[in-house]
Amino acid sequence: MEKTLVLIKPDAMERKVMGEIISIYEKKGLHIAALKIIKPSIGIAEAHYAEHSEKPFFKELVDFITRGEVCAIVIEADNAVKLVRKINGDTNPLHADMGTIRGKFAISKNENAVHASDSPESAEREIRLWFS
Ligand code: CMP
Repeated sequence: MEKTLVLIKPDAMERKVMGEIISIYEKKGLHIAALKIIKPSIGIAEAHYAEHSEKPFFKELVDFITRGEVCAIVIEADNAVKLVRKINGDTNPLHADMGTIRGKFAISKNENAVHASDSPESAEREIRLWFS
């Protein structure tokens, strides 16, 4: 079965909606295979977002994800990568369907409540990074 990595980001953790977000995945019937709460180091944040290192918002991304606790989750399901990205919704909360997690909880492109791997290859790399 396919695996994907979800991060519940500091904005959602601070607003105490971690449980509500996890229950959305569970109610969809997805299996939570692993879960941990950590305050990311700058090193893990930079490694996680390495593909964005040349983007103008890279520092903003790293500052944000390291400002508080995140909940890292491995979700296991058929087509987990695509399914979870659909449940999460568009990166930009202005474009996210209101039925999605970002539609419900995100407040900006940066503070957008959740991250999910964008391919099975990214999932493998990200799961190794967060659950090594
Ligand atoms: P995420 O799924 O964690 O992966 C890359 C992140 O970059 C994305 O969520 C957004 O939070 C962030 N992002 C994308 N575009 C922008 C932008 N224009 N400004 C700030 N952050 C962005």
